[in-house]
Amino acid sequence: MQAIQVHNLYKHFGKGDNIVRVFEGASFTVQKGELVALVAPSGAGKTTLLMMLGCVIEPDSGQIWLGEEKVYDNHWLIKDPRALRRKKIGFIFQAHYLIPFLTILENVTMLPIINGVPKKEASKRAMELLEYFEIADKANEMPAHLSGGQNQRAAIARALANDPQIILADEPTAALDRKRTIDVVKMLKKLTTDKNVAIVMVTHDESLLPFCDRVLSIENKKIIEKPVTPDMHII
Ligand SMILES: Nc1ncnc2c1ncn2[C@@H]1O[C@H](COP(=O)(O)OP(=O)(O)OP(=O)(O)O)[C@@H](O)[C@H]1O
Ligand SMILES: [Mg+2]
Repeated sequence: MQAIQVHNLYKHFGKGDNIVRVFEGASFTVQKGELVALVAPSGAGKTTLLMMLGCVIEPDSGQIWLGEEKVYDNHWLIKDPRALRRKKIGFIFQAHYLIPFLTILENVTMLPIINGVPKKEASKRAMELLEYFEIADKANEMPAHLSGGQNQRAAIARALANDPQIILADEPTAALDRKRTIDVVKMLKKLTTDKNVAIVMVTHDESLLPFCDRVLSIENKKIIEKPVTPDMHII
């Protein structure tokens, strides 16, 4: 079952002499239950691609399906991209972007509450997630009182709070030490297996590729599939 399908996507920024063509005919599919790595040099368009998948940035042309729903066909087919994003998609960024004046628990429950989930139910679900990520004891702390790795796990818990079918992660482990990095990637893989979510994870860290099901790259403004070579599985 497909979670994401992109067909013949074009995207540029700027105009005239300053035009930057980022995608010219990019196509790919991600299945439910897959953890897909997205690797490409700086400036190749990784963040731009995640933002288009997340209905944050509008492509120039092409088609995008999220699950079975066609959301873009040369223009948005959905009335409210933000509502769709809140319901279907979890974002994890390189910097955790927790809200500093809310507790960890409040950060995690915020989105479900905006989506209309009763507060009690949202809190119960959030506590389950915080337990899963081994930071339940920090639920009532402010982000400033947690370590970088703990905050990043809280941000991942937040991304999962609305039970997204798709998780878009832009270098989610960049702020973590080696052990936490491996832990987080293993957790992401476990999520794809346990909950059948699809995850697209931007990473510059080649040692994480063996944990992923597939590796996509951006070359010549298109998406290509990179083989996961056997020696990548050694870790
Ligand atoms: N809002 C914007 N306006 C103009 N140009 C932009 C904008 N956003 C991105 N770009 C350009 O599009 C290209 C792709 O940028 P993007 O941020 O997607 O790259 P990236 O692969 O995520 O890079 P990095 O690994 O450094 O995060 C770059 O040349 C960038 O300068
Ligand atoms: Mg980027």
